[in-house]
Amino acid sequence: MKNILCNIVNPISPEEIQFLPKQVISIEESKISAITPLSEFQGRIDEDRSNEYALPGFIDLHTHLSQYYIRGLYEPALLPWLNKYVFPEEERSKNIEYAEKLSRDFFSAMLKAGTTTCVIYTAPFFSACDMAFEIAQETGIRALIGMTMMDMNCPENLPQNSHKTLEESILLYEKWHGKNAKLDYIFTPRFAPTCSLELMKEVVKYAIEHNAWIQTHLSENKEEIEMVKEIFGYKSYTEVYQKAGLLTQHSIFAHCIHLNDEEIKMLAENKCKIAHCPDSNFFLKSGEFPLQKIEEAGIEYGLGSDVGAGTSLNMLYHTKMMNYRQSDYPVLPAKALYHITLGSAKLLGVDEIIGSLEIGKEADIVFLKPPLNYPLKNNGISQLVFCGQEFSLTETLVAGRNKE
Ligand code: GUN
Ligand code: FE
Repeated sequence: MKNILCNIVNPISPEEIQFLPKQVISIEESKISAITPLSEFQGRIDEDRSNEYALPGFIDLHTHLSQYYIRGLYEPALLPWLNKYVFPEEERSKNIEYAEKLSRDFFSAMLKAGTTTCVIYTAPFFSACDMAFEIAQETGIRALIGMTMMDMNCPENLPQNSHKTLEESILLYEKWHGKNAKLDYIFTPRFAPTCSLELMKEVVKYAIEHNAWIQTHLSENKEEIEMVKEIFGYKSYTEVYQKAGLLTQHSIFAHCIHLNDEEIKMLAENKCKIAHCPDSNFFLKSGEFPLQKIEEAGIEYGLGSDVGAGTSLNMLYHTKMMNYRQSDYPVLPAKALYHITLGSAKLLGVDEIIGSLEIGKEADIVFLKPPLNYPLKNNGISQLVFCGQEFSLTETLVAGRNKE
């Protein structure tokens, strides 16, 4: 049992943040066993963090482990950027020592940034994905991890065989599903331009039978959309995924920028989920996410760093980026915080376990200290949510333990 004195910042809804100053969080085993106002607390305080904020560990709904080292390499459009930087870099993870170092650096940086749960694409190699699971298990982070699948239109040195990529993905699923409560496999066909309809259909068939998660990219860039129409001949990008059966309630689509109303309706009707990646969209000049329309359609979404098109693993940087791309639909602090914590936990169906600081939930907690000489106004919450990357992160706990 450990008692920590701190100031709690809790997401309640997209409209409300709860602020509880001077509280004692008691942690027993992996869980929060009590939250007691200091004025009522009788016991020993083990850690005095009275000048720090405590927040639920952050959730990154979309990120590429294999691209961690190429952040900031610039080519201002998706397809040339993929060809010039991403595919050659992903090839390097064929080397298992490289893949191991990358995984170690990546997960360590994730925890240092306060992210305790992440949804990951690895390079398209069995061994690189398997290594990511091993290191994730060692560090104790929560993650859904998938091997990126491609079976057409990709460079020679990256796997292109439909049968092999499917077989390896299923092997990884069988190896890691149910092995560790914090980890699970997510089927990861990269995006329609590099995946045949047959491959996507096989993936969906297996995933549905096993109630497994699926992730891919959708409607990120205009050139990409044209390519999809040329290859598949359907009316819209979303229709390709519909034909593949990929529009499921366990499918997470990244970006979703240039969707028409019909496509948004299809996603909503099928209870599909969206990973909104504002920093990546900004960096690659992909366009503006139709936030208002997505909310009005009732589609669940959460924020993703989309490293390496995103430049930072720090989700308190991405909260700010949420606003940069909304010209006439302001995002207030409660909404931004919700979509890196409780909202994403709900989307993933794990909000009874994580997403906020509550008795009975796992103790996934981030402690943040305001910078010196930073006058905090109105409890400092807005400053924390939108300038949080300037605060120093003093500790990240996953299931009550410091895993850094
Ligand atoms: N679309 C297909 N692959 C990728 C990727 O690696 N990054 C981004 N941002 N978009 C993609
Ligand atoms: Fe991505």
